[in-house]
Amino acid sequence: MSQHGLNPASQRERWDFFYKDRARPCVFFRNAPDESLAAWVGEGQIKPGRALDIGCGNGRNAIYLSRNGFTVEGVDYSTSALAWAKERAREAGADVTLTHGDVFDLQLERESYDLVYDSGCFHHVLPHRRDEYVDLVADALRPGACLGLTCFRPEGGSGLTDAEVYERGSLGGGLGYSEGQLRAIWSRRLDVRVLRQMTKAGADSGLFGEDFLWVVLARKA
Ligand SMILES: C[S@@+](CC[C@H](N)C(=O)[O-])C[C@H]1O[C@@H](n2cnc3c(N)ncnc32)[C@H](O)[C@@H]1O
Repeated sequence: MSQHGLNPASQRERWDFFYKDRARPCVFFRNAPDESLAAWVGEGQIKPGRALDIGCGNGRNAIYLSRNGFTVEGVDYSTSALAWAKERAREAGADVTLTHGDVFDLQLERESYDLVYDSGCFHHVLPHRRDEYVDLVADALRPGACLGLTCFRPEGGSGLTDAEVYERGSLGGGLGYSEGQLRAIWSRRLDVRVLRQMTKAGADSGLFGEDFLWVVLARKA
């Protein structure tokens, strides 16, 4: 059993390596926002305000939000991801505040965000930190504000149980969640309004969408 692969430094190094190769054929490297985010903004379910994009990667959703009237902060612990996000934001003329750091180490201002967005970060959170993560998201949201989440469905994730993560010392590329698990995890602090399969989006749609993912929209009371 090796726990080494689970420590934050090892996880960060893996993401640094991952984002260094910008030519990697990775579905979420394209500069396109999540189809769900674009739909919720378009429908007015999410209204412009102060937004935090956790695990913002190369900034594709943060830049979209900035272009659509949000004041956006992105946080990511990968130096190479953040460098890419900074370049993209500059090229797009988008005013996004990008912070390098582990979201668990940041002192997020309580009840100060109108939107917390997470596309692909939560399913990399270790099981023993899951509740802590839910609390940090919920604490950061203003009453009435929303979390937008994109994460693996069972068939998209590694298939590992929580116990197996620790036995193997690996998340195996990210955990898949059942609908029931997701509802139970997030309902402890938030009202889950939307929980649906993401719609697959073609490369020419200008959107990102994969059907092995869930999308969740949840509101703080
Ligand atoms: C699957 S990528 C998704 C990136 C981006 N949200 C997107 O959808 O294109 C997950 C990102 O979360 C970041 N990440 C994971 N855990 C994190 C943590 N604890 N604090 C900050 N960033 C984290 C990784 O560095 C990586 O950039």
